[in-house]
Amino acid sequence: MNPKIIIAGSYNGVIVAKGPVIPGVGETYLGDTFFTGPGGKGANQAVAASLQGADVSFLCKLGKDSYGDDAVKLLKQYGGLEGESIRRVDDAHTGVALIFVDGAGNNSIMVVPGANLTLTAEEIVSEVKTTKNVFMVGFQLECDVGQMCEAMIRLHAEGVKTLLDPAPAAALPMEVYPAIDIIKPNEHEAEILTGVHITTPEEAYRAGDILIGRGVKTAIITLGAKGTVIVTADEKAFVPARIVDAKDTTGAGDVFSGSFLAALSKGYPLKEAVQYANCAASISVQRLGVFEAAPAEEETLALYHSSRC
Ligand code: ATP
Ligand code: RIB
Repeated sequence: MNPKIIIAGSYNGVIVAKGPVIPGVGETYLGDTFFTGPGGKGANQAVAASLQGADVSFLCKLGKDSYGDDAVKLLKQYGGLEGESIRRVDDAHTGVALIFVDGAGNNSIMVVPGANLTLTAEEIVSEVKTTKNVFMVGFQLECDVGQMCEAMIRLHAEGVKTLLDPAPAAALPMEVYPAIDIIKPNEHEAEILTGVHITTPEEAYRAGDILIGRGVKTAIITLGAKGTVIVTADEKAFVPARIVDAKDTTGAGDVFSGSFLAALSKGYPLKEAVQYANCAASISVQRLGVFEAAPAEEETLALYHSSRC
């Protein structure tokens, strides 16, 4: 049995409209595709990791509404995720995300977190303490940022490893950085955190160095179709993205994070885990949705072994 990954974070009911362009302020366009489904950065990452054969618990908060009822069903259906860590609250709605996708697969997202904001550091720390054989705890920022930072600091003090996907980007207190073992921003998030404008791997290396200087052990910065950089105190590496026909990049970063965590928990070294996650994310961007698009272990392994991507 692989060691346990705990993902603490968001679930959102998702409403997607796909059309030729993403509307700007005051603009209206006719779209061509509409669907609703599950999402949220935490849920996407937990499902992606579980599909990769990792042993995953998802700790989240849902409202007692129809989106919450759907969440319970869909987390089980797609990721085999269930149990007491999936909690319902009376006083908030289930998180929702309204997503526009354009013809090139780019997206723009508005999240209303609702019940996600009620997840506390205390709940996360006690979930970890009552779980055996925890390998790493994954965080994102669609919940209360202060509570997530407190949880990482408390877990780090207990010797528990953490991964932060700092999305959506938010200013973080300096004292949280040393409590982050792995940070995985995309280029926009890395720019907000570090002030380095990133369009090239070299610029991403500079941003990575700043994050390492603040106390993070490993920075993985994804640049979408341009690839991914890895920065530690001793090493810098670049992994190119696979050339594919992207239909919907929504949640590509989540599939990357979940698959990366899964690969690490199965013993892959850092660069190989990034290459593995790169394969999984490249499969997911060729499909619509995230739960529905995240690949299983077998499909990812076939691509990974056919070419280290
Ligand atoms: P999201 O916020 O929607 O979850 P993100 O912006 O965090 O996504 P990206 O940096 O766009 O994440 O992409 C994450 C990974 O997904 C990339 O490192 C790459 O492996 C893969 N990927 C994304 N877009 C493409 C693409 N167009 N072609 C191939 N691979 C892609
Ligand atoms: O990263 C993509 C996710 O962000 C979507 O599933 C949506 O729920 C938003 O939270």
